[in-house]
Amino acid sequence: MTAQAGICAEPNLHAHYLLFDILPGHHAGVVDALAQVPALWQSLQQQYLDARFSGLVAIGHQAWDDLYPDARPSELCAFPAQQQGQRVAPETPFDLFFQLRADRLDVAYIAVQKVMALLAGKVELKDERQGFRYLDCRDMTGFVDGTENPQGEDRAGVALVAEGRFAGGSYVHVQRYRHKLARWEKLAIKTQEEVYGRTKADNIEYESAQKAPTAHTKRTSLKDAAGNSMEILRQSMPWGTANVQGLVFISCCNTPLHFTRMLESMYQPDEQGHFDHLTLFTQAETGAAFFAPAEDWLSSKGDL
Ligand code: HEM
Repeated sequence: MTAQAGICAEPNLHAHYLLFDILPGHHAGVVDALAQVPALWQSLQQQYLDARFSGLVAIGHQAWDDLYPDARPSELCAFPAQQQGQRVAPETPFDLFFQLRADRLDVAYIAVQKVMALLAGKVELKDERQGFRYLDCRDMTGFVDGTENPQGEDRAGVALVAEGRFAGGSYVHVQRYRHKLARWEKLAIKTQEEVYGRTKADNIEYESAQKAPTAHTKRTSLKDAAGNSMEILRQSMPWGTANVQGLVFISCCNTPLHFTRMLESMYQPDEQGHFDHLTLFTQAETGAAFFAPAEDWLSSKGDL
């Protein structure tokens, strides 16, 4: 099974994100269009080798059964929405998610136009966002993002379903965060560092014993009952306009459980009342759960 390259791709300079709903009565047409996606990814990769293009299409949990009624990824379910007073991570379902990444903005844009042409008349564009590399892979809060991501072959081990009919696929969660930067920038650098549990300028991790129980890296470093690390592969990138900015957060994993546990740990207070203080400085505006099937699944229209 060939996984879509966008799942495990190394960081790029540019991204374009498209979120669609499928128009009533057009599901069969979308399955036909999606069957052409692997060839599209390949032609963009080969035509613009220097751009390191990678594509990814993922199917929303609500849309899956209408597109591929014969089989469903066993763990595909709704986005695990969170609500704790003002701190919310809502569910805003979408039928299709495209992540189009390249080191050239023009190539990412060509990919956008190709996807729009492929789906013309079958879908409604619900949201689009352009992502970009900020400095040395920093989030707009000024901290390097992605350091503890799995590296090399471990990326596939964490992100891809290993066996069965859905091998090579990935459970994908997408959230658009909008930062409260004015509030964040009022904090002393030391306090910002405590929010993450890492230093800002040189990106050094705090010793575990030195991390606050509310630190983002503390609350997202989780172990399962057997003591194994619950990992995800993050493919997030910053976005911004003149007035607002934030992060398109993207998690790819061979199970939706790890992201779900992490999000709960960020939002829900533990027995001591601790939660992730990063959630005081950024607001999730969208949240949706998808499955990104292997290319073989897409080209065979689910007939594997
Ligand atoms: C606006 C939202 C977010 C921002 C700005 C952000 C930023 C960061 C930064 C700067 C780091 C430290 C460096 C690194 O290892 O990447 C980090 C680590 C991490 N984040 Fe986030 N993050 C956000 C949301 C999330 C969410 C929603 C999850 C999962 C539900 C998550 C999971 C993780 C994990 C697993 C780590 C690595 C922890 C470790 O092993 O040290 N993050 N994040």
